[in-house]
Amino acid sequence: MKLDVLFSPVQTDELFFTGKTTVVIDVLRASSTIITALANGAKEVVPVGTIEFAVKVSGGIFGGQTLLGGERNAKKIEGFALGNSPSEYTKEVVSGRTIVFYSTNGSRAIVKAKYSANLFVCSFNNLSALAKHLKKLGEDIIILCSANNNFLSLEDSVCAGMLVHELIAENNMINLTDGSKSALTLFKSFGKNILKLLSETDHGVLLINNGFESDLKACAEFNSTEVIPFYSGNVLKVLK
Ligand code: MLT
Repeated sequence: MKLDVLFSPVQTDELFFTGKTTVVIDVLRASSTIITALANGAKEVVPVGTIEFAVKVSGGIFGGQTLLGGERNAKKIEGFALGNSPSEYTKEVVSGRTIVFYSTNGSRAIVKAKYSANLFVCSFNNLSALAKHLKKLGEDIIILCSANNNFLSLEDSVCAGMLVHELIAENNMINLTDGSKSALTLFKSFGKNILKLLSETDHGVLLINNGFESDLKACAEFNSTEVIPFYSGNVLKVLK
């Protein structure tokens, strides 16, 4: 079993993911928000690569029955029902609903990895549940950090390192690449206090400055759910 970590989607193209088992991470905030939406009973989340496509998908294929969610420059998009704060995706709002979701980095990273044979979404919220599932699956794994406008994101990299750390526990047969070794080292250096880490990263500071400080707490919650979003047929659903 081989584990690799890509620190930014820019490192590769869509075809790279063909047939692979991929884990997409966008701690702040897309993967945390998607996990929260599904944990609160959303039927499915449809990740899209552009705002225009979000509007088209929502109005066309789903006949206007969906909720549009996501952000541009961290803020809710005009005409969208929901932004990108996990706290907006409550049971009352999302239960049974299809959410068409666009975000600057996270939804686009998921769309980029769409040719994967297995595609999962990870944040600190569901990390151990996903690690347990991946161990059972026993496949080589690509962990894709959504990054920050193609630049390395420390919170995604540390989360990737924590996932590597859990996967190699009690298993010395796992092959680590330079990418996964580097993520592991970042986790060991910065992973002791997740909330502190999030409040000091580039994107964390931007979110605090835009009034989203409470989102950092939600995104820092470790193992708050066992929900694993799994991508199939262009939508993310809870893995059964
Ligand atoms: C993204 O996908 O770029 C992020 O989730 C941005 C954000 O914090 O809203």
